[in-house]
Amino acid sequence: MHKILEKNLILLIGAILVTVSIGGLVQIVPLYTMESTIEKVDGMRPYSPLELAGRNIYIREGCYLCHSQMIRPFRDEAERYGHYSLAAESMYDHPFQWGSKRTGPDLARVGGKYSNDWHVAHMVDPRSVVPESIMPGYSFMADRQLSYLNMDDHLYTLRQVGDPYSDDQIRSAVSDVGTQANGENGDVDAFLARYPKAAIGDFDGNPDKVTELDALIAYLQILGRMVDFTTYKPEMNRR
Ligand code: HEC
Repeated sequence: MHKILEKNLILLIGAILVTVSIGGLVQIVPLYTMESTIEKVDGMRPYSPLELAGRNIYIREGCYLCHSQMIRPFRDEAERYGHYSLAAESMYDHPFQWGSKRTGPDLARVGGKYSNDWHVAHMVDPRSVVPESIMPGYSFMADRQLSYLNMDDHLYTLRQVGDPYSDDQIRSAVSDVGTQANGENGDVDAFLARYPKAAIGDFDGNPDKVTELDALIAYLQILGRMVDFTTYKPEMNRR
């Protein structure tokens, strides 16, 4: 059999194709029987409109060129940044911000690590809080009014690609920006019911207007905080 195969090129190619495709089928076919390859995790929710606006600024400024948002399942990473990233944690990111370069640290769990004041100082002038930093300053964001009157359209568009925003969330999108960034005007309880764990307040220290810095800090402060890792158990260990 071996001799025949080795001497007949066409037969050999055919046999190779059959062998390789069995390997491919074994890997690919089971995926079709699964509803989702992303494990469901408690706590994950789509971004609030203000967080989403901050995320858009993060992308616009190319923060992902220096920062990753994906903690790999290695001990050194987990000790520095916290629990490794779950697939579910970027399921509402379109596009995901895993990044591929770390000139600065990973930001997947930076939420709650620093105060808003620290972020303001750091974004305006990184060297004022981290003297050896090579990160550029973004002081202009503190002056620029956030453009958010179309946040309902943003939410609506994300719903088209699968983010579970409700009609209620889309309807309140524009006013929710104000509620999260000022805390006072608007119904804070209803907002928090829509977006649990969202940080509320005047992020940039300037209560007079909603700036791009407000949005960016609101976004940074939710990163990695949606899933409660004191109660989280991977699916395979749940039984
Ligand atoms: C040229 C590369 C570069 C770019 C671009 C950059 N950063 Fe950084 N970033 C760094 C470096 C280096 C550090 C570590 C030193 C420091 O804390 O300033 C850092 C630190 C940080 C930290 C603190 C992280 C921690 O755990 O201590 C945050 C938050 C941050 N950057 C946010 C941003 C945001 C938001 C943007 C985009 C608006 C951005 N960075 C753009 C290089 C960069």
